[in-house]
Amino acid sequence: MREQSASQAPRVLLTREQIATRIEQLGAQISRDFAGESVLLLAVLKGASIFLADLARSLSLDAQFEFVMAASYGGARHSQGTVSLLQSVAGPVEGRNVILVEDILDTGRTLNYLLRTLQPRNPRQLKVAVLLDKPARRERAVHADYVGFRIPNHFVVGYGMDFDERYRNLPEICILPMAGPPDPAG
Ligand code: PRP
Repeated sequence: MREQSASQAPRVLLTREQIATRIEQLGAQISRDFAGESVLLLAVLKGASIFLADLARSLSLDAQFEFVMAASYGGARHSQGTVSLLQSVAGPVEGRNVILVEDILDTGRTLNYLLRTLQPRNPRQLKVAVLLDKPARRERAVHADYVGFRIPNHFVVGYGMDFDERYRNLPEICILPMAGPPDPAG
């Protein structure tokens, strides 16, 4: 991971209540858009696990779960930013309404890669739901159909998101102040 280190305790950016209210709104919107149909919620491990759990329960739809795990090698020594799948979709995608569920859209490398990988498998629809959109660091154009919050360029943890595998279980989304030089590639 990055060579920076956490310099202070996390401070709250989005409260549990703000997150819950917004996810209910997203769930209602998705339920309207897919009324009468079923959806395949395809969550990107590990960060999206908690968003998936809450988003899924906000849907009034027949929903199934699948998981993928992607690794991004995008540090300063890999300026091209390579994504590879550590775990791919187990079940069929063709003809299904697939919603990619992500905690954060940052550089866009992960979702860009996943969309390019899934589209040739002929889903009926392929949509993207992200809890957070951080456009400041975007490197790849990605259209997110459902966005919880657009946030400024802070390093955020909690609600599934980590720093060095810590803080994923914080119920709020928090800013983690960083010490040291910024990593240009994240
Ligand atoms: C994070 C996050 C997204 C991805 C977004 O995952 O959960 O999957 O980065 O970044 P991008 O838009 O720059 O590609 P990470 O690789 O940290 O793994 P994790 O979900 O297991 O924490």
